[in-house]
Amino acid sequence: MTSAADPLTLVLVGPMAAGKTSVGRRVARRLGVAFIDTDKRIVAAHGPIPAIFEEHGEAHFRDLERAAVAEALSEGGVISLGGGAVTEAATRELLTEHPVVFLTVSPDAVADRLRGSNRPLLAGEDPLERWKKIFEERRGWYAEVSSATFDTSRRPMQKIADEIVAWRREQR
Ligand code: S3P
Repeated sequence: MTSAADPLTLVLVGPMAAGKTSVGRRVARRLGVAFIDTDKRIVAAHGPIPAIFEEHGEAHFRDLERAAVAEALSEGGVISLGGGAVTEAATRELLTEHPVVFLTVSPDAVADRLRGSNRPLLAGEDPLERWKKIFEERRGWYAEVSSATFDTSRRPMQKIADEIVAWRREQR
């Protein structure tokens, strides 16, 4: 598959703490293209994500996210999306023309990564249970928008990034 906008665009989706940012940054470096984290863009323009959820609600955050995804796709490069971006039909629609990679992670492996997280959807008791439930709710959407899947549970992020780069080069 080649992308209409930019042959080196690559989008990473997957549940919270799957490693989208860590892997994405490495993939971008190896491909020699820009790296964009849409959550970071939203924070830079609108402030911390927990405050956006608290003051304006999740629907507002999803609107900001859709706009950030559209902007990022128009620029090209390696683009990491927030875990919930795929919940919006309009955002999924934006992804249809682009190569999308689904990063998965097991609950066992993600448990450590969730410690100290300030993600509003995991706030409160038993973040791991919430994480599992949310992942199951979204799994079908991740599969729908993506054309390759890589598991990040127990392997070095650099190794996973190398495999994604190899996969991306085969698509051209
Ligand atoms: C969210 C995931 C977060 C962030 C926000 C909502 C979600 O990004 O966009 O807290 O709904 O899964 P990460 O996937 O980078 O944690």
